[in-house]
Amino acid sequence: MAKDPVRVLVTGAAGQIGYALVPMIARGVMLGADQPVILHMLDIPPAAEALNGVKMELVDAAFPLLKGVVATTDVVEACTGVNIAVMVGGFPRKEGMERKDVMSKNVSIYKSQASALEKHAAANCKVLVVANPANTNALILKEFAPSIPERNITCLTRLDHNRALGQISEKLNVQVSDVKNVIIWGNHSSTQYPDVNHATVNTSSGEKSVKELVGDDAWLTGGFITTVQQRGAAIIKARKLSSALSAASSACDHIRDWVLGTSQGTWVSMGVYSDGSYNVPAGLIYSFPVTCQNGEWKIVQGLSIDEFSRKKLDVTAEELTEEKALAYSCLT
Ligand code: NAD
Ligand code: LMR
Repeated sequence: MAKDPVRVLVTGAAGQIGYALVPMIARGVMLGADQPVILHMLDIPPAAEALNGVKMELVDAAFPLLKGVVATTDVVEACTGVNIAVMVGGFPRKEGMERKDVMSKNVSIYKSQASALEKHAAANCKVLVVANPANTNALILKEFAPSIPERNITCLTRLDHNRALGQISEKLNVQVSDVKNVIIWGNHSSTQYPDVNHATVNTSSGEKSVKELVGDDAWLTGGFITTVQQRGAAIIKARKLSSALSAASSACDHIRDWVLGTSQGTWVSMGVYSDGSYNVPAGLIYSFPVTCQNGEWKIVQGLSIDEFSRKKLDVTAEELTEEKALAYSCLT
């Protein structure tokens, strides 16, 4: 029997990530090849015409799984009945703007969209925040949508996770699909900590540790980390635009694994509400290694954290604590 359609909201849908993301969702990349979807696309009035153009293209592409499209600049209409919300819309940093100005614009957007989601989304709606500052926008959304369970509000660090897999695969000249269990700890920013201490590669003679195979500690604790931390900036420098296809693809990976589950023995990185695991302050949205089953994520427990890693986990937590304070100061 055919499944009922799932309603998926994409905010900022007329933007460049939106343009890459909506066809992936309509093709089943996010929720599976047997899952019909209804797309809800939100953008702001100046982008209304472009948004309508995206809707026209979705119709023209005749995606068999796409059972409807709502394209609107009305946040209530956009949020009504959605089961999954991918929050990409936001205010980009412009020349001459201070960090606080960008933060101020975005946290007000996330505060007001939190209320719309809380009132109008389907019960148990899962939320993924992509727009920067992703962790702090997600935290504000959580704080201003108190009836949405905190486990349902997450942010995207899967792109950083996938970037780390890509770097290891290139270094070792192995298939990226054979590398697993890297971890991104902390903020989706240049203080994030990409950690390979528990990562492995599937080889013809079994699973081997990435650390042993690379055999170059200087790279693993130096160039590898900075490359992943700075990859977003490197893409902006090369494209004059921020990453879009990889961000869209990683957003699909995040939701797919959350809804359909991670494979046995594999974890992924997600920005989730900290419960104090690994001595990360509770009350931050922080990226942890997680496994997912039956639509729920769980932080992987019991991993050893050496002194080098401890410092890196703390630095990125401190940045998030400062961002949280800055966000609150913008709202008062
Ligand atoms: P973009 O500027 O191309 O698109 C953003 C869209 O959001 C625009 O169409 C804009 O009109 C819309 N928008 C602005 N305010 C809105 C509001 N209040 N409601 C709904 N829509 C609104 O930007 P992009 O390249 O698509 O990137 C989107 C965001 O994702 C940026 O904040 C970017 O920094 C972030 N990003 C995050 C990651 C990650 O891994 N977390 C990766 C790449 C980009
Ligand atoms: C990325 O990681 O590619 C983006 O978050 C960069 C940015 O600032 O938009």
